[in-house]
Amino acid sequence: MKNITVIGAGTMGNGIAHVFAMKGFAVVLVDISQAALDKALGTIEKNLDRMVRKEKISEADKAATLRNVVTSTDLASGVKNADLVVEAATERLDLKLKIFKQIDEAAPENAILASNTSSISITKIAAATNRPEKVIGMHFFNPVPVMKLVEVINGYGTSKAVTAEIMELSEHLGKVPVEIKDYPGFAANRMLMPLLNEAFYTLYEGVAGVQEIDTVMKLGMGHPMGPLQLADFVGLDVCLAILNVLKDGFGNPKYAPCPLLVNMVAAGKLGRKTGEGFYNYQGAGKDLVVAEQFA
Ligand code: 3HC
Repeated sequence: MKNITVIGAGTMGNGIAHVFAMKGFAVVLVDISQAALDKALGTIEKNLDRMVRKEKISEADKAATLRNVVTSTDLASGVKNADLVVEAATERLDLKLKIFKQIDEAAPENAILASNTSSISITKIAAATNRPEKVIGMHFFNPVPVMKLVEVINGYGTSKAVTAEIMELSEHLGKVPVEIKDYPGFAANRMLMPLLNEAFYTLYEGVAGVQEIDTVMKLGMGHPMGPLQLADFVGLDVCLAILNVLKDGFGNPKYAPCPLLVNMVAAGKLGRKTGEGFYNYQGAGKDLVVAEQFA
């Protein structure tokens, strides 16, 4: 594989483009918004700078990585030479089905089509294409350049050869792939989201405050971030979408999203990306500041 097209220039898309480009792949990063593409290139450069500062890569590696990424606002031309397409668009089934239909029409016949979806059925996505055996989940974790895990999700019709190729490719990227079956939330989010949801309820019911909840999990369980900070980092809209997939997919109300989360998303407080969630990210400085609502 040489040519990788990444669809979606958000947090996950730019991270995925970053790791492929650093390994020498030719990457086309596609988004409908030129502004999102420009921002993504800026983020990749900033993250490469951090790696240069930490002496993990050289200035020459940084320059080579940046040279390996081109951008496009046109999906059809962006995928036309792809060996692998990794879709990392917004977590909405209707959107993903539309995108996969378009990719299937424009990408070479032998290209593998992967989705970075965090919980939407790979089997449903594959059904929008004429090549279900070549459709697979490749679920990266944020921040993509740092987190080692890739969940490799086999849809109902994914061929064994395609799975083997994606497992090998993930290892080549320096990641640790694990094979997962295609059920709601796969494995990671099926375990993570109920934990985050319980943290939202713990706050909502007034059992403990924002900092107290995060301190419990950081110092009591050794988590690098508390669950509320992690939810802000993932995006509260993403958490809500995944909890709804779990609730509907299993038909089990135990996954019902906490009303506080629902309200925060309705209010546009989506976490770090909007400047406020459980914490407020607008001020300068590294210290976490609890959002006014919860102070
Ligand atoms: N790009 C590249 N490198 C980065 C980076 C980025 N965006 N962010 C941090 N780093 C590197 C730093 O350079 C540093 O490297 P070093 O250890 O070699 O010096 C290392 O990561 C740690 O960074 P910092 O010291 O600045 O900060 P922290 O020690 O607080 O670590 C963190 C930051 C790695 C994000 C850590 O807090 C963490 O592991 N948090 C939990 C992350 C997590 O759970 N992610 C999964 C989210 S769920 C998901 O993505 C699935 C989805 O479907 C919902």
